[in-house]
Amino acid sequence: MPPLVGGGLPLLGSLPALLSQQAEFFPRARARHGDVYRLRLGPLSMIVVNHPRHVQHVLRDCSSKYGKGGALWDSIRTLLGNGLGVSEGDYWLRQRRMMQPHFHRERLDELVGVMVDAIDDELEVWDTAARTGSPLHPMHAVSPIIMKLITRAVLGGDIDREEIELLTARVTFALSYVFRGIVAQELPSWVPVPGRRRYQQALRDMDAVLFKIIERSQRRQQRAGDSGGLLATLMSAVDPETGQRMTADQLRDEVVTLFLAGYETTSTGLAWTLQLLLHEPAVMAELRAEVDRVVGQSRPDASHLARLSYTRMVFQEALRVRPPLWWLVRVAVVDDEIDGFHVPAGTFVLAPTYAIHRHPDCWEDPERFDPGRFTPERTASRHKLAWIPFGTGQRQCIGSTFAMAEAQLILARLVQRYTFAAGSPRRTAVPALSIALRIKNGTPLRVTRRSPP
Ligand code: HEM
Repeated sequence: MPPLVGGGLPLLGSLPALLSQQAEFFPRARARHGDVYRLRLGPLSMIVVNHPRHVQHVLRDCSSKYGKGGALWDSIRTLLGNGLGVSEGDYWLRQRRMMQPHFHRERLDELVGVMVDAIDDELEVWDTAARTGSPLHPMHAVSPIIMKLITRAVLGGDIDREEIELLTARVTFALSYVFRGIVAQELPSWVPVPGRRRYQQALRDMDAVLFKIIERSQRRQQRAGDSGGLLATLMSAVDPETGQRMTADQLRDEVVTLFLAGYETTSTGLAWTLQLLLHEPAVMAELRAEVDRVVGQSRPDASHLARLSYTRMVFQEALRVRPPLWWLVRVAVVDDEIDGFHVPAGTFVLAPTYAIHRHPDCWEDPERFDPGRFTPERTASRHKLAWIPFGTGQRQCIGSTFAMAEAQLILARLVQRYTFAAGSPRRTAVPALSIALRIKNGTPLRVTRRSPP
């Protein structure tokens, strides 16, 4: 049996320690208890695995022995329905096959123009901060841009500001509610959980807007046969085996999934990137030099992406130290063995990305922010699963190329137009656990408009 962490508290287990230490709990527990340990968090108990070779085992070599976690996702399923992130088996495979081609590099290059338009539309918060000198929180600095970008890329251009605002508000609330729901779902449905009614209303509001957009797109597509983002592409996607297309309900679930999977993750990833850059003047200077050299004052386009390699490495390093999805979880569907430890069927297995990204076997001085770790040579010299912000194996993130392109374009556009430094109050931001790794007590940005170089 692996050692049990925090077994002393009968009802809560390690929950209090996790809540007080937040993400830091995981590297500390690994340092004290080793690469495999057991953990109890209130009603949930699990085995925690911390080495890239365990990730190789659970998510790749023996992935058929592990499922996505059934009941654990029930509260998320109320939001995502049977979308790609939570579906399993033949249904998942069929949907993934239909969607995968639309996330390939060449298809995404066609979306770069849409992405840059969306970024330019949402620079108002930056311009205001530059004009008034008011401090800008990193999350507020990026989330409207990402929301606009993801809605345009997924839902097409035919969506107005009011709809975007309503979706943003409902989605943000629904996500925070769903995270609390992972624990609250252990309670019977008649127990009043704070916010449950508001959540149900948020779902209804969200669906009303989404079905309206789907219907509009269907009509438009029938009329003009034109393309309107990924939604329109998915509408015309045909299952090669059955020749069938997706129904409106399936489209709704996939659209909500893309939307949620793509919004919160990329926003927190980029917000952390800005936050970390405030304390890294040398990295900031190198980033600016690359953007000036590669893009200059022109509009970023698909041809710049391959040459913005340092920009890409900055984002990769930010995803290492602050992985937006800080855990990967599976449930054993049959008995298994990991590193000599028996894993009975039904056990939850948690791989805390946050701790794996700091494993001393793979990362030297892991707290240091060093984009140079991601040169091709240094990457090749490491375990290939030492860096897993997008997961790995069959269920690897479908949007990883999309997210990398998005981050490069946003960083390039921001660095081209503005400089930003630490505003006040200056604080050391805490990586706080929610569905994504949030910034708690961050330092706001002090923004200035750059004059052309
Ligand atoms: C920095 C940004 C992002 C991060 C860190 C991220 C991370 C991840 C991770 C770790 C998984 C695997 C979860 C697991 O194995 O349990 C995943 C799955 C997924 N991601 Fe992302 N993601 C990002 C951006 C995006 C974007 C932009 C989209 C869509 C436009 C997207 C769509 C999805 C979908 C649909 C899945 C489920 C795939 C499946 O199960 O087949 N993600 N993501």
